[in-house]
Amino acid sequence: GDVIVEPLIRTTISDDRGEEPRYVGYAASELCEKGYGIEDVLALLWNKKLPSREESEIIKRIVMISADHGPAVSGAFGAILGACAGIDMPQAVSAGMTMIGPRFGGAVTNAGKYFAYGVKEFPNDIPGFLSWMKQNVGPVPGIGHRVKSLKNPDKRVKYLVDYVKNHTSLHMPILDYALEVEKVTTSKKDNLILNVDGTIGCILVDLDFPEQSLNGFFVLARTIGMIGHWIDQNTQNARLIRLYDYLINYAVKDEREVPEKK
Ligand code: ACO
Ligand code: LMR
Repeated sequence: GDVIVEPLIRTTISDDRGEEPRYVGYAASELCEKGYGIEDVLALLWNKKLPSREESEIIKRIVMISADHGPAVSGAFGAILGACAGIDMPQAVSAGMTMIGPRFGGAVTNAGKYFAYGVKEFPNDIPGFLSWMKQNVGPVPGIGHRVKSLKNPDKRVKYLVDYVKNHTSLHMPILDYALEVEKVTTSKKDNLILNVDGTIGCILVDLDFPEQSLNGFFVLARTIGMIGHWIDQNTQNARLIRLYDYLINYAVKDEREVPEKK
């Protein structure tokens, strides 16, 4: 008789049993032929639907604008350290990737989640939202930047906000709320701006992307930059990095004799 085998995994996004991979049913080559781009493919694989033209223009801009931020930031610096230690590309890039977390680049998911929560639970009470966040979460994900501030605005954020609000017809209630939150936080301290993680998190929730997908946008985009840094260091034959003593504050005990072991 028939042997019934329990499947080991269940997938709902892609299928390679035909002539070529199908993403949520659509053949990859047909997507190419019909003029779709990488932004449409990621929307299919992460949100299981094709975005509208306006939506895909926003997704493309999010990826372009987050692709790199120079060598000084945690992710690129991690990848560069790896490259200079002679580590292969995937490992050096994953060293940089490891830095993506709650303080750097990995606040997109929680920014989207908590600003959406604010819209639902504290629609007309931003001080109430901020004190709930302080008590229950800690620093508001998506708010704050080490170097960007009201006096030194983040051009990426300004560009994206202007683009979605003035060059599309889409409604952005979560982003609007976060911009109101920013008015209150920057009145306390001028670097408590809506940062790039916060901006893209809100826009993507407004575009109906699932919460679990949001950090993926920074991870995907910044992979482009980290690969670039690895190639750059390797083509220059960069040497091993070792920190100079003057970059380290040695807050240690004075040299002393080891006592006899009792
Ligand atoms: N919400 C509330 N208060 C904050 C926040 C925040 N998001 N960020 C900083 N503060 C407050 C701190 O509590 C501190 O207050 P105090 O002086 O009264 O103690 C003050 O601002 C300075 O805080 P630091 O941690 O020293 O600020 P720093 O410049 O080191 O931090 C950082 C920058 C890590 C981005 C911080 O603002 C933060 O954790 N933000 C939330 C996470 C986030 O959105 N990260 C993504 C950044 S964008 C990117 O990585 C691409
Ligand atoms: C980035 O996009 O990497 C930056 O916003 C982070 C930083 O600290 O400048």
